[in-house]
Amino acid sequence: MDVNSTLEIVTGLTAAQKRLPSKLFYDDNGTALFRKITEAPEYYLTTCEKEILRKNADFILDQMENRPFNLIELGAGDGSKASLLIKKAMTRPNFRSYYAYDISKKALEELEANLEKSFPDLEPHLVIADYTTSLEELDIPSQESNIFLFLGSSIGNFSPSQASLFLEKLSHKMKDGDFLLVGFDLKKAERILYKAYNDSQGLTAEFNLNLLLRLNREYGANFNIENFKHVEIYNPGLGAMESYLLSLKEQTVYFEDLNLEIHFQQDEMIHTELSYKFSVEDIENLVKDTSLKALSFLFDHKRYFVSVLFHRRSLH
Ligand code: AVJ
Repeated sequence: MDVNSTLEIVTGLTAAQKRLPSKLFYDDNGTALFRKITEAPEYYLTTCEKEILRKNADFILDQMENRPFNLIELGAGDGSKASLLIKKAMTRPNFRSYYAYDISKKALEELEANLEKSFPDLEPHLVIADYTTSLEELDIPSQESNIFLFLGSSIGNFSPSQASLFLEKLSHKMKDGDFLLVGFDLKKAERILYKAYNDSQGLTAEFNLNLLLRLNREYGANFNIENFKHVEIYNPGLGAMESYLLSLKEQTVYFEDLNLEIHFQQDEMIHTELSYKFSVEDIENLVKDTSLKALSFLFDHKRYFVSVLFHRRSLH
């Protein structure tokens, strides 16, 4: 783990409201668990987004007209969503390459194997990077036009102001004629949201509790996950699902490598994730003061999810 993350962990666990950064979910184990979540029947997000990508792949790629272009994905995971676009792009003479940035080495290794199998002629560029902290430093190809992909409603992990800032920074990586496709999970009946984050196989619980196991593995902490419980609820005020790890009893956890003791009251909760849900109006507000302009809102047939295609507002 890097120094920054260590600092975030110590600061988070010593704060009055304990918290851990969501990006910590994605170690090898967490990455594999997240992939399983995307296949759980209750986790509709991936199914809906794939339907949108399948239906609109040609429309999205048509935006490039005859210009040579790349597909550039932030947080690619196993690439199963981007593959729907790559498949169509491979039939176009102006398609150049696929670039993917992800925080997880394991995810990129799997991605490489999947791409090699499905698209042996593609020469992808796969880069380990934490786009939440190093967006400015990402080396983006500048010769061709680019379609940026930020899928899966990963944007929902940012607060609205962070999300606007992130989109604005991303727009600075875009040239005239570039496009950005962002996946947003839409606001909907609370029980549907609830079930998506409290799946019957307990995968989301395992994913959340894996954070503690990761701290055991990487900092010599002694969390007993039997003493913690996954709690995930919709916060209507924020319009976000919030996940917590609840301490089932009063206990003290020791981090051997940090020589740090953390005390928990019974029922005290560690905040671990926010997954914001959006209305079309929320999305328009996010980009209102940025250089981005929404061109198309692409919905799945249930209207559970929307993929929004943006371009840079023309500067003149
Ligand atoms: C990858 C951030 C989009 O918030 O839905 C899934 C992660 N957390 N189940 C989401 C997640 C719990 C996911 N994102």
